[in-house]
Amino acid sequence: MIKILGIDTSCDDTCASVLTDNCVLSSMAASQIKLHQPYGGVFPTVAKLAHQQNLPATCETALKRAGVTIADLAAVAVTAGPGLAPALEVGITFAKNFATTHHLPLLAINHLEGHLLSPLLNNRHHLPNHPEPTNCLGLVISGGHTQLMRLEKIGKYQLLGETLDDAIGECLDKIGRLLSLGYPAGPAIELLAREGNSNAYHFPLPLTSRQDYDLSFSGLKTFAKNLIDSLKQQYPNGLSKTQLQDLAASCQQGVFAHLLYKVKKLLTKEDLGKTIFVGGGVAANIYGRGQLRSLSKQFGKTPIYPYHRRFCGDNAAMIALVAYYQLQAGLCPQRLASIERQPNWQLTSWN
Ligand code: KG4
Ligand code: ZN
Repeated sequence: MIKILGIDTSCDDTCASVLTDNCVLSSMAASQIKLHQPYGGVFPTVAKLAHQQNLPATCETALKRAGVTIADLAAVAVTAGPGLAPALEVGITFAKNFATTHHLPLLAINHLEGHLLSPLLNNRHHLPNHPEPTNCLGLVISGGHTQLMRLEKIGKYQLLGETLDDAIGECLDKIGRLLSLGYPAGPAIELLAREGNSNAYHFPLPLTSRQDYDLSFSGLKTFAKNLIDSLKQQYPNGLSKTQLQDLAASCQQGVFAHLLYKVKKLLTKEDLGKTIFVGGGVAANIYGRGQLRSLSKQFGKTPIYPYHRRFCGDNAAMIALVAYYQLQAGLCPQRLASIERQPNWQLTSWN
């Protein structure tokens, strides 16, 4: 069993986690949501400063909660990209200093691979115990990305389709902003939608004439904006709670219908294994899970998610997890000097 300290500062959460193999011993996240809320999105320089202030204590707490000392660690893993450049820089600089001081190897990890493999995280009882992927479909659905991947095996990936513009979570966040739901808006939309009628407003289904698996969410956002603007004109004294709930339910339905349309096309045409790996903040959405479960069933497949919803969103456990698989596969950690932030790092195969 090897113990790894994972660090992620790719966006607005300062995350540190300790794993023993693929089992989570601790996972800490210092949230910056309150700091960014006035801006309606993540403000990079504010994020950088908050990461600098929070990271040392977050790592210390992660080690303490795990009951692990620095001497027990076999390696450190840090997100090198994709993400906000100033935010990534903080994690990398800290991890390099930590690794040098304590003579530990440092692994630079791709954040997308963390989300993609996050269903393989285990808890302290080593549950769940999902088999490793072989030729499976993987979905990364987050605030920054929407990617449909073929997971041939751990470390071998093929991009099958991705969004051409906004990410699915970004689309929900932008619609939420129009409805003054704060940032991030995904969870608020999900909550409102529970009481709403998803058939109240009919959203269009984008890119249906294309044969590929690419997606586009910006048209859905524009459709929502026009709809909300016209309702606001019609009801100048403000929208009722029911109207808000109906809008949330219809938007949520529209956004997931687009994703599921492309997933269905893919499952129809491609020869893929029985499980579907799903990660990223939007994977926490219960409505979306229900829709994907029904669709997958038609194809004899089962979606699998991180064992706890908090591992859908950004966390450092998934970063340490990828490092564990890389070390297990015999991948040599890079020289420290060659590790640099890669804000637009595309996920490529290493195995
Ligand atoms: O994975 P994540 O934490 O950060 C990125 O890597 O982007 O994803 C954040 C995104 C945000 O857009 C947020 O609104 C969305 O995930 N999100 C949700 C839910 N929880 C978070 N979207 C829909 N339903 C949720 N329950
Ligand atoms: Zn993420």
